[in-house]
Amino acid sequence: MKITAAVIRDPQAPYSIEQLELAAPGPGEVLVRMAGVGMCHTDVLPRIPELELPRPIVCGHEGAGTVQAVGPGVTVVAPGDHVVMSFDSCGECANCRSGHPAYCQTFMLRNLSGFRPDGTTPLSGDGGEPVAGSWFGQSSFASHSLATDRNVVKIGDDLPLELLGPLGCGIQTGAASVLVAMRARPGSSIAVFGTGAVGMAAVLAARVAGCTTIIGVDLNDARLDLARELGATHTFNGADLDLGDQLLSLTGDGVQYAFDTTGASSMILTAIGALRPTGVCGLVGVQTEPLTIEPNFLSAGRNVMGILEGDAVPQVFIPEMIALWRQGRFPFDRLIQTFAFGDIDRAEQSSLSGEVVKPVLLAPT
Ligand SMILES: NC(=O)c1ccc[n+]([C@@H]2O[C@H](COP(=O)([O-])OP(=O)(O)OC[C@H]3O[C@@H](n4cnc5c(N)ncnc54)[C@H](O)[C@@H]3O)[C@@H](O)[C@H]2O)c1
Ligand SMILES: [Zn+2]
Ligand SMILES: [Zn+2]
Repeated sequence: MKITAAVIRDPQAPYSIEQLELAAPGPGEVLVRMAGVGMCHTDVLPRIPELELPRPIVCGHEGAGTVQAVGPGVTVVAPGDHVVMSFDSCGECANCRSGHPAYCQTFMLRNLSGFRPDGTTPLSGDGGEPVAGSWFGQSSFASHSLATDRNVVKIGDDLPLELLGPLGCGIQTGAASVLVAMRARPGSSIAVFGTGAVGMAAVLAARVAGCTTIIGVDLNDARLDLARELGATHTFNGADLDLGDQLLSLTGDGVQYAFDTTGASSMILTAIGALRPTGVCGLVGVQTEPLTIEPNFLSAGRNVMGILEGDAVPQVFIPEMIALWRQGRFPFDRLIQTFAFGDIDRAEQSSLSGEVVKPVLLAPT
């Protein structure tokens, strides 16, 4: 079928809005008509030339919409169902079977290669030109998307569907890192480095967890103001040269949990340095440099944990976030600003500049 999609052809150029051909759903696949799609930092990876991702490519991995058709063997959803789309996994490897699909052996292949696991793409352009798709098993910067029966999560049809896509990646990552991966305990302290979409969701989740000291760190003072409104008890500007000392003097012996979303080595080392013995530091930001940690600093029971997608099972965690939102305890919609699909470049820029925490594109009609 013909669809409208935002294509990255040249890493430096704006998105190209094009009509593409999308294949019919094959075995285990689900055709979704998009309502809205969030923009996550990971969507700009094909713009980094050194990463050598395939182009032309359609990204987008925080889609939400209505199931239009299902392929052979799909039983988890039916046409008409409302779904949020999350990351894809195989369901059969040891980590999938033990409830850790974000650590699926085929995670990179299914989510970040731009192709289905068998190397094909469901998208093509003029004259049959292959266009990389299947980004996080969805490529949802489009009017329609082919997902899989492993990455769609059925939700109630009384919810604001167009706003829910970010629950599939950025918001899930921040919230589940705190609630599932690090299992933050009531009465504990946590420092969140980088209060963008992922960090802000971590702040919301820390409040849900009952953390009583919630520290937000960012370079953007407007984001720190919002973090305080959403539950941070203290905020610091990451440019403060004595940040590490301030964190230790605030908490006495350091924080129980630290969570880095910046990927910046200096911030990660500050986060690890702020841990009290037995503390846990979760890392989700994309890192570009090696880290050097002081000898024996970790020996005192300190832990550093790399986290993908919060270690969540989307079919379990997304309904939990929605239930918390219904009770007013997880106001993730405060992070969202909507944009028309044709304003995708402005939306991306607003996120990169720090002006908007979570842009959501309304699907083209
Ligand atoms: N591991 C995963 O599963 C996963 C999932 C989603 C996103 N991510 C990654 O997480 C990171 C954060 O994503 P996001 O959508 O929240 O991005 P974002 O740009 O909205 O947020 C990052 C924040 O960090 C702040 N920051 C940057 N450098 C800083 C510094 N030196 N000191 C203090 N603050 C600093 C920025 O001002 C910004 O507010 C990205 O690298 C993204 O690719 C990882
Ligand atoms: Zn797997
Ligand atoms: Zn993402």
